[in-house]
Amino acid sequence: MQAFLQRVKDFVIYDADREFYAKVFPDSVTRSDLQRLRKMNTDDLAAVLAIEAENYNFPWSEGIFKDCFRAGYNCWVCEEMGRILGYSIVSIAVGEAHILNISVHPAEQGQGIGRKLLEHLIEIARGKKAETIFLEVRPSNISAIALYEKMGFNEIGVRKAYYPAANNAREDALMLALQIFF
Ligand SMILES: CC(C)(COP(=O)(O)OP(=O)(O)OC[C@H]1O[C@@H](n2cnc3c(N)ncnc32)[C@H](O)[C@@H]1OP(=O)(O)O)[C@@H](O)C(=O)NCCC(=O)NCCS
Repeated sequence: MQAFLQRVKDFVIYDADREFYAKVFPDSVTRSDLQRLRKMNTDDLAAVLAIEAENYNFPWSEGIFKDCFRAGYNCWVCEEMGRILGYSIVSIAVGEAHILNISVHPAEQGQGIGRKLLEHLIEIARGKKAETIFLEVRPSNISAIALYEKMGFNEIGVRKAYYPAANNAREDALMLALQIFF
């Protein structure tokens, strides 16, 4: 019921209204009310790259993000009053979706933003009639695995020596998948 009421509230209140109320009556609006998902654009890249550098030992370069734009992948940010809190990227083709990146600013983790981004990607994949969503994750990435398992992803295999690691070593990737039911 709570989730339903929140969805109705999200539907009837425009973002501009929320930002107005946040400035004039700060106590009337929660942070979650102010967070919105929108498509990523090149103006977001500085903020996105800063989060990328904080979150990963082997961060994506600007060129990789631009390649994702060029390839037409779905690239999203979670924004609050003009500040980027996190982002996600999914590629969808011939009935399959691949989550390529999902990342939340370290200071903003643990507040449901990762879940919000992931739920949104799942809805996009469903809208494009993808039947399965795949992703890779480092076995050492406890928080990401916790999020994926909570969202119903299952382990389907291991890619050997998939990720770069310290001292020129490689780390395996767990392959996870989520079946989408229509
Ligand atoms: C993985 C990541 C995106 C999760 O984002 P987040 O905003 O912190 O996650 P959320 O707050 O939405 O948590 C989602 C669920 O996962 C669980 N979870 C998150 N971190 C957890 C942890 N360290 N231990 C146990 N559970 C955890 C939460 O309990 C939550 O469950 P709930 O919704 O039932 O309460 C974030 O930690 C991150 O950006 N990590 C660095 C980048 C990265 O590794 N990305 C994944 C690459 S594969």
